[in-house]
Amino acid sequence: MEKILLKDKYFVPYISYEKIESAIDAVAERINQDFKDFDGIPIVLCVLNGSIVFTGELMKRFNFPCELSSVRLSSYEGTLSMGVTRRILGLTTAIKGRTVIVVEDIVDTGKTITDLSEILREAGAADVKICTLLLKPEVYKKDLKLDYVAMEIENRFIVGFGLDYDQLGRNYKDIYILDTAKPDTRKYFLIFGPPGAGKGTQAARLVERFGLKHVSTGDLLRREMAAGTELGMQAKSLIEKGMLVPDEVVEGMIASEIEANPDVKGFLFDGFPRTAAQAEHLDRILAGCGGKVDAVLSLAIPDKTVFERIRHRAEIENRPDDTKPEVIQNRIDTYHAKTEPVVAFYKGKGVYREIDGTGTIDEVFSKLCALTDNYL
Ligand code: IMP
Ligand code: MG
Repeated sequence: MEKILLKDKYFVPYISYEKIESAIDAVAERINQDFKDFDGIPIVLCVLNGSIVFTGELMKRFNFPCELSSVRLSSYEGTLSMGVTRRILGLTTAIKGRTVIVVEDIVDTGKTITDLSEILREAGAADVKICTLLLKPEVYKKDLKLDYVAMEIENRFIVGFGLDYDQLGRNYKDIYILDTAKPDTRKYFLIFGPPGAGKGTQAARLVERFGLKHVSTGDLLRREMAAGTELGMQAKSLIEKGMLVPDEVVEGMIASEIEANPDVKGFLFDGFPRTAAQAEHLDRILAGCGGKVDAVLSLAIPDKTVFERIRHRAEIENRPDDTKPEVIQNRIDTYHAKTEPVVAFYKGKGVYREIDGTGTIDEVFSKLCALTDNYL
């Protein structure tokens, strides 16, 4: 086995076919035990496309009566501000009152499997069992119980045995891992703060001082639209229809910014991630290049001060609507509601760094510099 090239990335051998087979033997044995006296016929539900190979291998080991069905989840409907809502497509078997054994290739954040499990229960399934070939325990944070896990792996991007990178690599019988022979030495910072915290000003000064690349999702979108790229045109038509740009588009832009700047000291993300789901996706993007979020620089400002700053700004800029207390309070509430899960996510990873955001621009900047300096 050696390196394989899929599009622009190399992958190296990680789990051999023999190892996979014996993990499947073991998990199939457990399922056979659990279902040997089962009164009824369970439905084995293959989640397309990734689980095709695993489902085939698993099912031929089953020695109890079972039916096979398959389902596909719409790839995305997530948008920048709405949560992700998923739909299932192509379920042709009636599942009301049935026991379903869902077969997945890999559980990462667990979003897919929890959504699917919920949908199946809503559709009247009597019981839903989950069987996955692979689990990334470091990433999985859901409460849903995973009944059968064949193998646990570290938080790295893999392909083969049904799993893909941009639809490629599903055909390999071994599992391969993204080759990160050259470790990523770039640092990844996020800047965080309520409206009126002076994030923009501070970000501009920080990138200048430390030679970082400023990545603002708003700027990126405007740039793509102005350049009339395919992505820009898509974004534009969505925005013009009053719709939001899907997470996948934003994440794609971020991934290409990272790739396009191999020589910077680091990145400062501004305006992203806005939701916990995006934070998880950012982790996945960074895991793909061997990096991780080093620090979340958070400007803490009391709500009362935020309130005054927004009102003051609206007055100066002559936006009478924005001076209404309920409008301002609403913006502050939205900020808290949306960012709190993101803050909790990074606190959990031990990278959340808060500094006092009150004081003059220079005072705040020097605190930010002292903090950032620790990482560079
Ligand atoms: P989750 O919803 O975050 O649990 O992600 C599950 C889905 O993400 C899987 O069904 C795969 O399609 C995809 N995925 C997650 N990690 C990997 C990986 O390492 N390689 C290929 N696909 C992956
Ligand atoms: Mg899948």
